[in-house]
Amino acid sequence: MPAVRQLRPTTAHVDLAALQANFRALQARVGPKVRVLAPVKGDAYGHGAVQVAQALEAVGGDAFGVALVEEGAQLRDAGVRGLVLCLGGVGRHGAEEAVARGLVPVVYDEGDAERLDAAARAAGRRLPVHVKIDTGMGRLGVPLAQWERFLDRLAHFQALDLDAMMTHFAESEVDDDTYTREQLRRFRQAVAGARARGFVPRMLHVANSGALLRHRESWLDMVRPGIALYGEPPVPAPELRPVMRVTTDVLFVKDLPRGASVSYGRRWVTTRPSRIATLPVGYADGYPRALTGKAEVLVQGRRCPVVGTVCMDLCMADVTDVPAPVESGDEVVLLGGEGPDRIGADVLAGWAGTIAYEVLCGFSERIPRRHVPAASA
Ligand SMILES: Cc1ncc(COP(=O)(O)O)c(C=O)c1O
Repeated sequence: MPAVRQLRPTTAHVDLAALQANFRALQARVGPKVRVLAPVKGDAYGHGAVQVAQALEAVGGDAFGVALVEEGAQLRDAGVRGLVLCLGGVGRHGAEEAVARGLVPVVYDEGDAERLDAAARAAGRRLPVHVKIDTGMGRLGVPLAQWERFLDRLAHFQALDLDAMMTHFAESEVDDDTYTREQLRRFRQAVAGARARGFVPRMLHVANSGALLRHRESWLDMVRPGIALYGEPPVPAPELRPVMRVTTDVLFVKDLPRGASVSYGRRWVTTRPSRIATLPVGYADGYPRALTGKAEVLVQGRRCPVVGTVCMDLCMADVTDVPAPVESGDEVVLLGGEGPDRIGADVLAGWAGTIAYEVLCGFSERIPRRHVPAASA
């Protein structure tokens, strides 16, 4: 985006005080002996990784999770000092950069381990690594059947320190906890196997938000709650507050007679004389086209339906029933609000047929993030 001051009204407000309060609430839940790693991958789920990490450091956060080496480097460039864990590993090309930046890699692949060992030796350092075991997510992690062989290989990489062992749950947020318990059982068994071979991990960590909120036995030494930290927990947690709010202003208002069609494809036709507000937000902003015919926005605190096809840069809302006449420049809430009419990320996600994570990450770079500073930390 060109470097001009913000002219458009559409804004994602990121409440750093709420973020800090959520961090403290999650830390309080798990107690002082359990470390809380803040996942800030995906630009902190769309909230702005650097601002989020800095706000959390101010309240004692000292561990951050990124997906990519590049994301870790961005944190280091901004002066973030804590543990930066590369959850996705470092890939074929990231070993030297990870070592140079003081990032801690997650390791699950022999080739990666070899490259990291070489990079650490070249830098004259020992490198802490977190080894990931696949206990049933089927994504990243050493498959259980290869665990012993992997440990044997790891023992040869003298520059690598096995600092932690970890795994990731596939469905820790669901009511039926059978699979989560089975994953945890497999994890404990794999760790016991490693200990029996002389490995001494200093930390064990497995819990994402769902596990933190539902499975106390999964807390171990460190938890990794992402979506809960951003105030959109996958299971109810009343102490957590939403961090992001997205608003825009009405761009244009018109009164249409009965029988007038709105937007591409003429999918929506007025059934009464209607006041229609055009909003300067569309799918290029991450307001998905899949919201067509489903979404609502808040105008003067009242839910109004988004009508007609959501366009690339614009969409329309029927504001006929809003009591005070809606004018160009009036504020419209796309994500946020209070009470039963609140439009949470889960609500937007339900309308769009996706999940809260994708809604939050999906707000594009074209929507400026306005970080509302915390009072004093
Ligand atoms: C390895 C790992 N840990 C923790 C998290 C955080 O998950 P959640 O946002 O569900 O808490 C993620 C996110 O996908 C992850 O990949």
